[in-house]
Amino acid sequence: MTRIYTDDAEIYDIAFDWDISDEVDWLLERFGPDCRSVFEPGCGSGRMLDALAGRGLEVTGIDVSEPMLELARKRLGGRRAVALGDMTDFELGRVFDGAVCPINTLLHLGKDGLARHLDCMHRHLASGAKYLVQVAVLDPDQSEPSPAGEWEASRGDTELKVCWDEVELSIGRGLSRQRSRIEVVAGERAGEILEEVHEMTAWTPQTWAEAIAASPFREVGTYDGGRKGRWPRVPPDTTGGLIWHELSSRAPRDPSSRPGRTSL
Ligand SMILES: C[S@@+](CC[C@H](N)C(=O)[O-])C[C@H]1O[C@@H](n2cnc3c(N)ncnc32)[C@H](O)[C@@H]1O
Repeated sequence: MTRIYTDDAEIYDIAFDWDISDEVDWLLERFGPDCRSVFEPGCGSGRMLDALAGRGLEVTGIDVSEPMLELARKRLGGRRAVALGDMTDFELGRVFDGAVCPINTLLHLGKDGLARHLDCMHRHLASGAKYLVQVAVLDPDQSEPSPAGEWEASRGDTELKVCWDEVELSIGRGLSRQRSRIEVVAGERAGEILEEVHEMTAWTPQTWAEAIAASPFREVGTYDGGRKGRWPRVPPDTTGGLIWHELSSRAPRDPSSRPGRTSL
């Protein structure tokens, strides 16, 4: 696992702690008024769970990184229900009214991993529940890496300059190698540069549609997270780095309850 999710989890937490209140408003609209409980696979340090709990929802998350979960526990306090778990193989022994997976977390999974993940998610969602995932989908003719995202972040004395870029893209192999570069400009770790490359998946409209068609879900809405208000809906084959996919179960869930293997 990469360092920004483990040894440098605190730096990650500062770098990605932007205001998501507007995104959360939108997510709540998508989930609908009957949604009381939300699950986040790959919840990291809990910024999304915290924002959802702040709106009165019961929140639960899993992550493979214990340092990330430690931060999530601190952030959520008594509202916490987070556990160590792999999103491609977990069993919590319960269902949720909705689920969310933002900022391209699912790009950490390849085709087989995504299939296992969606099977697990299907077992954990109530009938009619929505699963909102933000997953980049690229133009099949794109040959050059996508443009870099650059921003600054700070908390207390710590100031960061963050750059996330794509160093290699192979649409044919479904591979996107992405680099995170975080320069600590001020604070205790001033002068450090944390740089890593992440092997991620490059989806096209066709490969993504095939992966969803092979899963127990169907895509009932597609939205461009880069567009103000994320509205109106965009066609399902829209490409972009911030695409939200609204998934809903298309097959009935196996009602036989299984014992939870991931303890909360
Ligand atoms: C980009 S971060 C996003 C964290 C959080 N969702 C957020 O929005 O801030 C991706 C997270 O996914 C976790 N992760 C990666 N692969 C995972 C897996 N197979 N199962 C569970 N978590 C995973 C990482 O540890 C990391 O915390």
